[in-house]
Amino acid sequence: ERVAADMRSVVLIGMPGGGKSTVGALVAARLGRPFVDVDERIAQRVGMPVPEIFERLGEAAFRRYETEAVREVCKESGLVAACGGGVVTQPRNYDLLHQNAVVVLLRRPLELLACEGRPVSKATGVAELFRRRAKLYEAWADAAVENDATLEDAVERVIAALE
Ligand code: S3P
Repeated sequence: ERVAADMRSVVLIGMPGGGKSTVGALVAARLGRPFVDVDERIAQRVGMPVPEIFERLGEAAFRRYETEAVREVCKESGLVAACGGGVVTQPRNYDLLHQNAVVVLLRRPLELLACEGRPVSKATGVAELFRRRAKLYEAWADAAVENDATLEDAVERVIAALE
């Protein structure tokens, strides 16, 4: 089955600081598809940056906005999208993502993650988050790619995983 040849969207999941937005934007450019960053979409809709949503409205409210954004993004076809790292914490997001998209896990070793200062890493600690989330990411992924070399390698690997 050639996934790249169909019009399902490609959705990147993985740990915060693992390169989803950077790699996603480059993959989109290479495939000639629009790129959507789900966290940015949420920030636009709510009218504040994600860390402020966490602080002022709380994580539960953020998760509700996130599900709405995922629902909206997954109505469209042919996109490349990057989700926030916590999208896998809400089982309700599973069907929304898998109905119309290929879910690609971007794996990045713990020591290479760049997630200091992000809300969830502040609250829980990156290593703890990594430990808790690994199984979820693997279970949600239709394909998985290592982001442990250069950016260009990661982009190539995502595109290769779609073929
Ligand atoms: C979160 C990851 C963030 C953002 C929010 C919660 C998480 O996105 O959605 O801070 O729970 O892992 P990134 O993965 O882009 O940092």
